[in-house]
Amino acid sequence: MRTRCRAWRREGRLALVPTMGYLHAGHLSLLEWGRGQADRLVASIFVNPAQFGPSEDLARYPRDLERDAALCEKAGVDALFCPEAEEMYPAGYQTWVEVTELSQGLCGASRPGHFRGVATVVLKLLNIVRPHLAVFGLKDYQQYLVIRRMAADLDLGVEIVGRPTVREEGGLAMSSRNTYLSPEERQEALVLREALREAERLVAAGERDAASLTTRLKGLIAARHRVRLDYLELRDAGSLEAVSCLDAPAVLAVAARVGATRLIDNTLLVPGSAAGKA
Ligand code: PAJ
Repeated sequence: MRTRCRAWRREGRLALVPTMGYLHAGHLSLLEWGRGQADRLVASIFVNPAQFGPSEDLARYPRDLERDAALCEKAGVDALFCPEAEEMYPAGYQTWVEVTELSQGLCGASRPGHFRGVATVVLKLLNIVRPHLAVFGLKDYQQYLVIRRMAADLDLGVEIVGRPTVREEGGLAMSSRNTYLSPEERQEALVLREALREAERLVAAGERDAASLTTRLKGLIAARHRVRLDYLELRDAGSLEAVSCLDAPAVLAVAARVGATRLIDNTLLVPGSAAGKA
């Protein structure tokens, strides 16, 4: 991979789209963007053990390499990188990347060590491929900020691009984990998107108070008995610091368990506009 990418990098612009596979339209939108921005497009599929907690779904994470490879080919991917865990983390492995502040709170609170695993594997992939740009989804907004910060702090010289969330017809954010949902759970999961839309409406109507906003939305979500809220928080869109009054762009981020499946979603709220881009 390194040898091939070194040659491609010399010839033109090189883009990388890292994934954990089981590709859906969200992943494909990143590939499409990368394809349009670069001369060569590399995708990676690696279900990264380092970002899963001991009680999380690493073993049952959905996998279908054959289907993914066909989708990548159709999307114009020049090379698909699928390393084994033993290659990425051989015996004796002991180096980790930690983006200290942005990794705290939100998903960092409920998934200790998660962003350390994400930052480390993304740095390794960036070092192997050495792309000019790497493309990520804003659905995983905290992940996007963590990776952007790491790239700046460690002088990686790579452009980190964030792309909008692709949704299913009913509004549910696309996720490889959606495949775990029963039809009833899938229906109830829509409340997450509904809550975010309600927030967009309230902000457009002049609401600025984070507490009254989040209380109202938590009420909406509590009405669905299959949905157990993990967090629903308004955070500054750049620093992820807690926000009590919406006077600058903020991200409203939500995570919940629907049955046994953990889902996340978010929307960007900009005071004085209808917003809702992520
Ligand atoms: P994965 O969940 O497979 O997602 C790969 C990329 O697709 C991420 O950048 C993610 O934000 C983006 N993505 C997922 N769902 C999306 C959607 N509905 N719309 C747009 N983009 C979407 O995120 C990971 O893998 C891993 O943590 C990884 C970055 C590969 C590191 O292991």
